[in-house]
Amino acid sequence: MVNAKKAILGAAASAALLISAGSGSALADADNSNLIVEGEKLISEAVAPAGVDVEKIYSGWRFRSPETQSLQMDDFENPAMPTVDIGADIWETVDGAAGKSCASCHNEADESMKGVRAGYPKWDADLGKPHTLETQINECRTERMEAKKWKWESGDMLAMTAYVGLQSRGMPVKVQTDGPMAKWHDLGKDLYYTRVGQLNMSCANCHEDNYGNMIRADHLSQGQINGFPTYRLKWGGLGSSHRRFKGCMENIRAVAYKRGSDEFIALELYLASRGAGLSVETPAVRN
Ligand code: HEC
Ligand code: HEC
Repeated sequence: MVNAKKAILGAAASAALLISAGSGSALADADNSNLIVEGEKLISEAVAPAGVDVEKIYSGWRFRSPETQSLQMDDFENPAMPTVDIGADIWETVDGAAGKSCASCHNEADESMKGVRAGYPKWDADLGKPHTLETQINECRTERMEAKKWKWESGDMLAMTAYVGLQSRGMPVKVQTDGPMAKWHDLGKDLYYTRVGQLNMSCANCHEDNYGNMIRADHLSQGQINGFPTYRLKWGGLGSSHRRFKGCMENIRAVAYKRGSDEFIALELYLASRGAGLSVETPAVRN
């Protein structure tokens, strides 16, 4: 299996400069650890959804070092949790001209928001496009609270998407990809397989053809998004999936799309569909 993947690697000359086989078979592919968070076993591998060209799908957690992995297994050690607590406070805080908080309409988040993260991006007929969690939350703020929009990558938005996301932790990702979503799914798929940038690489060159191999000092995963917003040790905080997409595009010296752009929304939908069946891990911890 591993050898077949390495053969494909030859296709990208530039990739060959960057990517090497895991030093020693211990590093190849996903490891065998079980992701148990606060006593609950999360689904970190699953049979690949139809149309996804790998045998199995794996959470990015399975490619991280034991030290990074352990941070996500215990909520007291998870460095994202103080931010999640801020999200819980904002949930209760009145903001905007309508004099409402999230809780005024949605009551207890652990009931009203359970399962929500697992189904986003989600089609919205009024909008005529998919809502991400961020755009849905901003719609509630502007239309229903008469409050200001939050910026995509703002502290308030990340705290809230992490808090809402946590209410689905452990539940399998399941997004709609047919009907009006088909067009968005197909655009995301195109973007995933299109080579871009000075290095002339696609997402697939790294995350489909070469997961399990090393790229410089990093162990390549399948680029799944079931843990977002994710706490990255390198960032020293939480970041959105769109921030990660942007970073990956910049690493191959491509001009990245903007956070919240139609392109990144389509990519988010497509990646969510590639990870269908994996547990929501929000807030995940990565290096
Ligand atoms: C005035 C009432 C009201 C307030 C205040 C409000 N919402 Fe909403 N929210 C709604 C309604 C109504 C919907 C359903 C909209 C729809 O289905 O089109 C909704 C939908 C949502 C959804 C999508 C749920 C799903 O099942 O897909 C999320 C997430 C959400 N709100 C988060 C928030 C957050 C976070 C806040 C505070 C920043 C907030 N809302 C404030 C009324 C409100
Ligand atoms: C040159 C190789 C390369 C390319 C091309 C690339 N990435 Fe990545 N990506 C990485 C590396 C290295 C990491 C960090 C280690 C890991 O999780 O694979 C990463 C991480 C990620 C993660 C985080 C996974 C997690 O578990 O948190 C996502 C999501 C991601 N990439 C998406 C993309 C998307 C979308 C594209 C195409 C626009 C892309 N990547 C292109 C190298 C690449």
